[in-house]
Amino acid sequence: MFKDFKLLPGRPVYIQVKDYMKHLILKGALQGGQKLPSTRELGTLLKVSRNSVISAYAGLEDDGFAYTLQGQGSYVAPAAANTGSLESEVWTMDWSQRLSAQAVLADELDIMKRGIRAEKGTISFTSIAPDESLFDLDNVKRAFLDRMAVEGNVLLNYGYARGYKPLIDYLKQYMEHKGVDLRGKEMLITNGFTEGFDLVLSTLGKRSGAVLCENPTHHTAIKNLRLHGFALTGIPMERDGLQLEALEQALAEREYDCAYLVPSYHNPTGIVMSPEKRLGLMKLMAEYKVPVIEDGFNEELRYSGSHVAPLIAAAGSGNGVIYLGSFSKVLFPGLRVGWVLADRQLIDALESVKRARTIHTSTLDQSILYQYLLGGNLEKYLKRARAEYKRKYELTLACCKEHISYTTVSGDGGLHLFVTFAEGFSTRELLAACRERGVIFTAGDIFFTNGEGLNTLRLGFSRVAEAEIRKGIEIIGRTAKEMMG
Ligand SMILES: Cc1ncc(COP(=O)(O)O)c(C=O)c1O
Repeated sequence: MFKDFKLLPGRPVYIQVKDYMKHLILKGALQGGQKLPSTRELGTLLKVSRNSVISAYAGLEDDGFAYTLQGQGSYVAPAAANTGSLESEVWTMDWSQRLSAQAVLADELDIMKRGIRAEKGTISFTSIAPDESLFDLDNVKRAFLDRMAVEGNVLLNYGYARGYKPLIDYLKQYMEHKGVDLRGKEMLITNGFTEGFDLVLSTLGKRSGAVLCENPTHHTAIKNLRLHGFALTGIPMERDGLQLEALEQALAEREYDCAYLVPSYHNPTGIVMSPEKRLGLMKLMAEYKVPVIEDGFNEELRYSGSHVAPLIAAAGSGNGVIYLGSFSKVLFPGLRVGWVLADRQLIDALESVKRARTIHTSTLDQSILYQYLLGGNLEKYLKRARAEYKRKYELTLACCKEHISYTTVSGDGGLHLFVTFAEGFSTRELLAACRERGVIFTAGDIFFTNGEGLNTLRLGFSRVAEAEIRKGIEIIGRTAKEMMG
């Protein structure tokens, strides 16, 4: 006994001694009523100071694991030592038989569990997360310290389901600067886009059980829609956004509960819907009274052309658009802060669903983001990040033109490009062959609602070094050519 005690750096020694002794008591190595070694003795055995053992024993007593007899020493508390189970009474369940249909489907659709892992040295185009080397940590640290100094006590207590008021006010103005008419609208802060989407889908009553979306579209959105039991109708994409004729036909054929759309720097195609199409789309949705869930996740990552207003701005004082915003690509996905801007009554309902589910989004995260934004850091950061991503975007595009010139490449900005090979070509087979050569990407079929897209792939370039972008796309191009014969 006592030979397997190992000290970890960075944690107070007395706590480690206390935890170690607890472990011995719980596993039955020390029995109830048994006398513990003297503090001097244990200090020598564990090679720690006697004071550390004195504090550890006091802690064990506080936690109900030991007691002291005046003048006789410390003893193991009887009940504390009786918690270990007897093997004969071990109770096991087969949890796989107890899962809900939703959990089974979530597991089935979980590509993170089944996706290919990048081995060390692999050039990976699978991620569309921001490049963390661009994060201005000093300003984030300053924002944290500044906000804690102002109201740290308040921030660490429960907050409001709607969100942190200063951040809401800031984001409302931010949306107003995108041309949104805020009359009759309110905002709810969420844990990123993904929670906002889930909350909206939970809040809207299911009537037809059908939802419209672009085809292809964001994989996580497809997953969420399926988990909510919606049938998806995917509208094909063209170079300037979804095909309006196909949309009109779909609308005429049946009823839809809503449409989920990513009009700017769409995932996975990177396409920005043209202003003309946006108007045409809004007309159709108004005519058929189908609410639009607009995903504005990438709007700020524009490298050329002029600003295109979000659909919610085009809706004016109308309330048919539910806008979901996120700073996951524009700033830091680790903060998990997003927002829903929508009709006041709908936000009121969303607030109650949010409160029932998670109470509120971390006020600490919201307040750090608020202070960071308030200090003008977003503008400075975006300037730098845009310049960096633009260089990579142009390089990736140029490499695609050079090495896979026979494909169609789309992407007007953001952190990825989308490549379409000739009909019949398999990007799954290409992926397997490229992986052998140390390059991976995302096969495009996962973004399609109907099993199409077997000849497509997505290239996320944000976290790939320039030399690797060149090398990786050359390998993809060479491998594809070999496959074509
Ligand atoms: C289309 C789309 N919307 C939103 C997001 C961001 O989601 P979240 O804010 O939950 O991180 C992503 C991230 O990849 C995305 O691709």
